[in-house]
Amino acid sequence: MKRYSQIKKEEKTKSIIQKFKEEILSAVTEFDTSRPSDQQILRISIASELSAINLYQELAALTDDPNLKKVILDITKEEKTHISEFETMLLRIDDEQIIENLNGKKEVEDLIGN
Ligand SMILES: [Fe+2]
Repeated sequence: MKRYSQIKKEEKTKSIIQKFKEEILSAVTEFDTSRPSDQQILRISIASELSAINLYQELAALTDDPNLKKVILDITKEEKTHISEFETMLLRIDDEQIIENLNGKKEVEDLIGN
């Protein structure tokens, strides 16, 4: 017989996994599988890293093992490095993204300051 807390944990885990699948599916829907551009490859890679971060943070919150939690959160941090690596590569080939990054930064600063 499962304990109530175990059932709740299983439900939470299923919900997290489902959300992860939906995020990845949403990211790949726009993907041109016949001939993806390097920009598409980098954007899907960035989207996957972002989803992984969300997934790992939620999984880390589910474990009672402090060592496992520590390792998952360390890996989460590494995923942020991966985002930066992919973003660096994307900015080398997408001039519009460079401009829009600057526009977005300025819009936020105009709205809420530095
Ligand atoms: Fe990664």
